[in-house]
Amino acid sequence: MEVLEAIRARRSVRKFDPDHRMTADEIDTLMQHVILSPTAFNIQNWRFVAVTDPARRTEIRKAAWDQSQVTEASLLLVLCMDLRSWEKSPERYWRNAPAKVSESMIREIRHFYRDDDMLQRDEGMRSCGMAAQTAMLAAKAMGYDSCPMDGFDFKRVGHLIDLPADHRICMMICIGRSMAQAHPRAGQLDLDEVYMQDGFA
Ligand SMILES: Cc1cc2nc3c(=O)[nH]c(=O)nc-3n(C[C@H](O)[C@H](O)[C@H](O)COP(=O)(O)O)c2cc1C
Repeated sequence: MEVLEAIRARRSVRKFDPDHRMTADEIDTLMQHVILSPTAFNIQNWRFVAVTDPARRTEIRKAAWDQSQVTEASLLLVLCMDLRSWEKSPERYWRNAPAKVSESMIREIRHFYRDDDMLQRDEGMRSCGMAAQTAMLAAKAMGYDSCPMDGFDFKRVGHLIDLPADHRICMMICIGRSMAQAHPRAGQLDLDEVYMQDGFA
């Protein structure tokens, strides 16, 4: 599917075929594309938890105000961020670059993120947001639909996936075979209202 068409066709779906399961190969293809999403300084600070255990899914559904897509989608991805990825062997992120470039990037990474908790979290949100859209468009291109979600108790879901102390959850995405046509777009703003040139004045 062509990219612009995938963007137009992607809609949030809440009714998935509960009997359909994506194959391991399909999930691998999807995730191999997701991890090509950009991150600042290439720190790749996203972490993705695919929840496959039905009992855990049921518990997550309860923590998500019983939204049925949590258990009925083929794939439930919890998009998490590692707040400290910038300091965890950062040479990995530049290992194929010339030594001079790699050394200078590692210096900059430390300087940029050290002592700034808010920036570390913001960066995780940016990276996960990018990855989320990649996941949803890749899913669409593979013939699947998706639903992005933040309607859940983050603390409870964190507990259910054994989230490490230096990680945070950004959102979840349900992916699967749609059983229902998406509603017409609810209230798209005109481009004029959100797009401006040279500032807000
Ligand atoms: C960050 C985020 C969180 C969302 N959380 C939920 C959710 O918990 N449950 C749900 O049914 N839809 C959720 N949605 C879907 C939105 O309602 C949907 O994207 C919006 O209405 C636009 O519709 P569209 O995605 O079909 O274009 C979420 C979307 C985003 C981007």
